[in-house]
Amino acid sequence: MNKKGYSIILGISAVLMLFIFLLVGHHRDTPERVRLDRGVLLGSGSSVAERIKPVAQVNVASAETQREPVKNAAAAPPRSRDGQQVYQTTCVACHEAGIAGAPKLGDKGQWAKHVAKGLDTLYASALNGVQGSAGAMPPKGGNPGLSDAEVKAAVDYMVARSK
Ligand code: HEC
Repeated sequence: MNKKGYSIILGISAVLMLFIFLLVGHHRDTPERVRLDRGVLLGSGSSVAERIKPVAQVNVASAETQREPVKNAAAAPPRSRDGQQVYQTTCVACHEAGIAGAPKLGDKGQWAKHVAKGLDTLYASALNGVQGSAGAMPPKGGNPGLSDAEVKAAVDYMVARSK
C-alpha cells in the first residue's frame, strides 16, 4: 500500500474512533442528565422510593399535610359560639316550648311586643334578666358562662327567627 492509502485508512479510522468516542460519551452522559431532570421534577432530595411512588399516593400525603392545621384548630380553645349554638345550649330550655311565660321561638304574635322595645332593650333584658307579667327570665338565661357577645348573638338569632 502506498503512502496515500495509509493516510486514507488513518483518516477513516480517526473518524471512526471519534464517532465511537462520541457515542460512548453520549451514553455515559445520558443517565446523569436524566437523573438531573428527575431531580428537578421530583425534588432532588427525594429518595428512590419516593420518586417511584404512584402520583396518587403523593397527593394523599400532601392532603394529610394540609389537614394538619385543622387538627391543631380543634385542639385550640373553642371560639365564641354563634347565636344558634348559644340558643341551643341555654335559651332553648324556656324559649323552645314557651316555659315559664317565655316567648316561643318563631311565634311572631308573642314576640311582637318584645321586638317593639328595640334590640338594645332586648339585649339588656337577656343580659341582666327581666321580670315580665308572664314570668321571669334570669340573667343570661341562667348561664353565667356565656359572654355578653354570645348572649347578644342569641338574641339576634331569636329575633330574626321570630319576626
Ligand atoms: C329559665 C327560662 C328562660 C331561659 C333559659 C331563657 N329565657 Fe329569655 N325569657 C324568659 C321569660 C319568662 C321571658 C319573658 C319575660 C317577659 O315577660 O318580659 C323571656 C324573655 C326574653 C326576651 C325578651 C326580653 C324583653 O325585654 O322583652 C329575650 C330577648 C330573651 N328572653 C332572650 C333569651 C336568651 C338570649 C336566652 C338564652 C341565652 C334566654 N332568653 C333564656 C325565660 C327564659
